[in-house]
Amino acid sequence: MGEFVILLGAPGAGKGTQAVRLSAELGLPHISSGDIFREHLKKKTQLGMLAQTFMDKGQLVPDDVTIEMIKERLLKPDCANGAILDGFPRTPFQADALLEFLAVIHGKLQMVAYIKVPAHILVERLSGRWTCPQCGRVYHISHNPPREAGICDDDGSTLHQRPDDLPETVENRIAVYHQQTSPLIEYFQKLALLVEVDGSLGIDDVTEQLLSKARGS
Ligand code: AP5
Ligand code: MG
Repeated sequence: MGEFVILLGAPGAGKGTQAVRLSAELGLPHISSGDIFREHLKKKTQLGMLAQTFMDKGQLVPDDVTIEMIKERLLKPDCANGAILDGFPRTPFQADALLEFLAVIHGKLQMVAYIKVPAHILVERLSGRWTCPQCGRVYHISHNPPREAGICDDDGSTLHQRPDDLPETVENRIAVYHQQTSPLIEYFQKLALLVEVDGSLGIDDVTEQLLSKARGS
């Protein structure tokens, strides 16, 4: 039976950064809905083109296509023992669909970690973020810089800034988070699955909090 962990938090809270670390520590794959959409976009698939029209405006991609895409991904053999979910679910409708799906595949939702970060920090993190277009690794110009400026440590690609990290789009993404995603905090609280970590601390401190919650210590 697979064990699933959800990372919940605003844009820039550090979901992707922490998911990579939890994935390595817990031996579970990192499944990021945003990364899968960006992969589709790179390959210019129909889903990628559709997603882009929403992502460019900082809006959510419609629930039905997002849910189908994630279910398909979670049925791959590497998710047999569970997964770290980053950016999904993002609406109560997606959460309902995930819980139904987990019931069918006999998966267990181990914890939903809410990475709490104040708004002014989010903006600073997103404006300083640089991403590897090849492997998706995320850096920050001052908090988590690559060894050589502008170059990915892992594969030597030239780093870029995500198009949805432009200031106007960031503002909209944060507003959309408050309207559509933050109700999930209460949703999972009611199910006694929510744990909260202080995401304003340094990257290592946040990882430590998450690992101790995941290991129940
Ligand atoms: P997605 O890619 O999921 O973006 P997001 O939720 O806006 O979150 P981010 O990736 O921007 O932030 P993060 O929390 O991962 O932070 P990170 O670790 O990079 O979604 C993009 C779009 O896709 C959505 O707008 C939507 O259109 C669509 N989409 C995706 N999922 C969807 C869904 N389920 N339904 C519908 N639509 C969906 O960190 C940010 C920066 O801060 C980095 O530079 C990092 O180095 C730095 N940093 C991280 N932690 C710390 C720390 N503790 N201290 C200092 N710096 C830190
Ligand atoms: Mg991310």
